Amino acid sequence: MNGQTTMGLAAAAAAAVRPCRRRLLSSVSAGGAKASVTPLFPRRPHPQHHHHGRRLPFLASAASQTSHSDPSSTPTTTPTPVNSDPRSAVAGNLPFFDRVLFPGSFPPVETPPVEEPAPPTDEGLASPVREESETEREAWRLLRRAVVSYCGEPVGTVAAEDPECTEVANYDQVFIRDFVPSALAFLMRGETEIVRNFLLHTLQLQSWEKTVDCYSPGQGLMPASFKIRTVPLDENNEAFEEVLDPDFGESAIGRVAPVDSGLWWIILLRAYCKITGDYSLQERVDVQTGIKLILSLCLTDGFDMFPTLLVTDGSCMIDRRMGIHGHPLEIQALFYSALRCSREMITVNDGSKHLLRAINNRLSALSFHIREYYWVDMKKINEIYRYKTEEYSHDATNKFNIYPEQIPSWLVDWIPEEGGYLIGNLQPAHMDFRFFSLGNLWAISSSLTTPTQAEGILSLIEEKWDDLVANMPLKICYPAMEDNEWRIVTGSDPKNTPWSYHNGGSWPTLLWQFTLACIKMGRPELARRAVAVAEEQLSADKWPEYYDTRSGRFVGKQSRSYQTWTIAGFLTSKMLLENPELASILTCDEDLELLEGCACCLSKRTRCSRRVTKEDIVE
Ligand code: GLC
Repeated sequence: MNGQTTMGLAAAAAAAVRPCRRRLLSSVSAGGAKASVTPLFPRRPHPQHHHHGRRLPFLASAASQTSHSDPSSTPTTTPTPVNSDPRSAVAGNLPFFDRVLFPGSFPPVETPPVEEPAPPTDEGLASPVREESETEREAWRLLRRAVVSYCGEPVGTVAAEDPECTEVANYDQVFIRDFVPSALAFLMRGETEIVRNFLLHTLQLQSWEKTVDCYSPGQGLMPASFKIRTVPLDENNEAFEEVLDPDFGESAIGRVAPVDSGLWWIILLRAYCKITGDYSLQERVDVQTGIKLILSLCLTDGFDMFPTLLVTDGSCMIDRRMGIHGHPLEIQALFYSALRCSREMITVNDGSKHLLRAINNRLSALSFHIREYYWVDMKKINEIYRYKTEEYSHDATNKFNIYPEQIPSWLVDWIPEEGGYLIGNLQPAHMDFRFFSLGNLWAISSSLTTPTQAEGILSLIEEKWDDLVANMPLKICYPAMEDNEWRIVTGSDPKNTPWSYHNGGSWPTLLWQFTLACIKMGRPELARRAVAVAEEQLSADKWPEYYDTRSGRFVGKQSRSYQTWTIAGFLTSKMLLENPELASILTCDEDLELLEGCACCLSKRTRCSRRVTKEDIVE
């Protein structure tokens, strides 16, 4: 948790969404809300939110009290007309959109009729074939307790629901990244409605105008989290309405944009459609636009020389300063995965072909870059150890001018003979050699790595079990930064002291990503071992957010209890192990065609830096 403060009501009024308004009796507590009825209308409507297929929430009249529960239901009131040309809404804000996404012909504006999701079939679901353990039953009870409703409909789960803790900070919010394992558990259980609602409501939040000191980030940004507030409708406090109040990072301690949110949203959308068979959701025009808005943020040209995404510190699961600014692996793996998922979901038409080409080019360059430059094993480290520096040429071996002195002393002994991993970050003259679990695991699941590299990562985790799993799976990163390095890199962050929290703490939520990667690589027994370690402790320790110490023995110093993604991560792991075929809703297979798509091959003037052959890459 990055110490976000509870937003003041004035800020809430400026930012809140009101997809529905329902009258609540005056006796109902307003949750301390004393705000006047400041209009909560968004200033920038979603370019393709219009009145045909979906309620335009902010246009719904207070009088219409019916059918509010279904965000996709046809409105019963006549909404104020909105501009039907999305280009006018985005022009000026998204030059990339004009050029790539809307090259001449525009996709049809009418929303396809909303079909009810196909009822999940028995074989698509994780029906427990054995009786659930007491720990699993408790986990389900707790997960359901964490569900939040909006206008009577489930829309997400709060980050933590700890009845003993009075200081909620922002753990009472629905975090996009935290909800993913909850969503998967519900999906595999056949409870798909909450996920659909979540996807559609967060889509609405995407279009909100947000400003930090007069600066507005791009429209495709998805919030880090949202909260449901109850605010009075009038000064007499006689009636109240519920509003969705998003946080895009503008009230986070470092004002950092949650880059991972949109990527997770795309990944979850694909998982939902695959497991329910309800592909009409991804085909909806507003959903298609949502995907494109996210991609437009990621694919816009800047000053970059690398295909990786350049982000600031704290823009993902590690949301405090931890020295991961630049091109952190976690973001690259999620980016790659989101591109792969989008490529499957984007409707092919004249309006999308440029975008699809841009996606393919980026996928190709990104996978080459990560496979080639982020990968380290015994052989590669030995190569770096003998690097020459100051090489000015296309043929340089040491392309990023890495000084061999950067190889940290811990790594020299730590790197096993077999296997290897992807480093945390790569910049000019800088390799971050720390092992980051989420990035490595997601690189396996999405096929960002070669199959051999994927096997190598799992074999390293097995070999380094006592460092990475020990008493609680899984270390968020290894090793911890200490002393001066901790002081300089974290800014002396008291929460990220060595072997605590983000700085080498152990996060049980990572279990589900580990399980997924193990299943993909045909090594479920490794995941079972880790699940067994967690199962022994989690319930007794009240499902903590994280553990401290080198071997993950203590419940984290400032750890919350009953952390939802700890609970959901455990359940998701169990269900995946029982139904390994369901892993495919999240994974991507190796795409050999991408390896052919090197953009350098198109130009004779550019010397291709891919000296490795296709066979080398595929291995
Ligand atoms: C912490 C984690 C972040 C998570 C949040 C809510 O800030 O770093 O990844 O989303 O808590 O659980």
